Amino acid sequence: MLNPPRVYVTRRIPDAGLNMVRPACDVALWPGDEPPPYETIIDEAREADGLLCLLTDRIDAALMDAAPRLRVISQYAVGVDNIDLAAATRRGIVVGNTPDVLTDATADMAFALLMAAARWLVEGVKYARAGRWRTWGPLTLLGQDIHGATLGIVGLGRIGQAVARRARGFDMRVLYHDCQRSAAAEREFGPSCTDLDTLLAESDFVTLHVPLTPQTHHLIGAAQFRQMKPTAVLINTSRGPVVDQEALVAALRAGTIGGAALDVTDPEPLPADHPLLALPNAIVTPHIASASVSARNQMAVRAADNLLAGLRGELPPFCVNPEALENRATRDA
Ligand code: DGY
Repeated sequence: MLNPPRVYVTRRIPDAGLNMVRPACDVALWPGDEPPPYETIIDEAREADGLLCLLTDRIDAALMDAAPRLRVISQYAVGVDNIDLAAATRRGIVVGNTPDVLTDATADMAFALLMAAARWLVEGVKYARAGRWRTWGPLTLLGQDIHGATLGIVGLGRIGQAVARRARGFDMRVLYHDCQRSAAAEREFGPSCTDLDTLLAESDFVTLHVPLTPQTHHLIGAAQFRQMKPTAVLINTSRGPVVDQEALVAALRAGTIGGAALDVTDPEPLPADHPLLALPNAIVTPHIASASVSARNQMAVRAADNLLAGLRGELPPFCVNPEALENRATRDA
């Protein structure tokens, strides 16, 4: 009988996925709550046919070179910026991800952050807990209206569109900027396509939904903050480095913009003494936008499906580099 394929899973994921992988594979699972060190992943990958990894793991060419049997990398996330995709493709290693199933959870969180920032939710909770709530105050913690405000969506992919749908329910005017115009989205829920400068100048809330690539690195920095309204709120549930964080801190301190609500930062986690964690006009959550029970379970199933397909030599159902399969044929010839 053939030995089952060996896979390394870099963190405990929901059982919905692990229970699919375990019967079919020889599974080594990192037991820690924090990511395994890079060297540990390399060591485990030496004998592995498949890797089920997280966005917190650096998966680079050197790691792939140390793993001659590696056929599939299954990422438990939709973003794959931690993986050297070109290196995987050259080596015939297919890479899977988990789109769609986290779209609504992430859009919900983007909206929750928007609302929390607009209406001083976190400051209000702190105020009440600190015993400062002595009376009903006509001028206490005055925030901004969400209904009727203008929302600027940078990146109208799956998650950006889901945010636009939610904004419609709040009677917001929605602008978007994307490298591709989406006539279907415009027809269905009415966002208007615009250039980034106009979006920044006209929006009360700017929410980011682009993948991290060399083109989107520091897409929003000092120059962009200067274009925004002094009351504008920046919401980021994409990737931290899309924003120049030093410029953001400066803009929040100087009042160049009104606030920021971030589920992603650069680096992650933020050091406990980072200014963003102390500024009253900043809200930071620990990269939990997809963290609903249902989304995380479905991500686990999708990651397991991708892994098992890749191990069988098939294209994972959600594959970000299908051309790798052709290179595999050449590699194995
Ligand atoms: C992703 O999937 O890329 C999110 O950042 C985490 O779910």
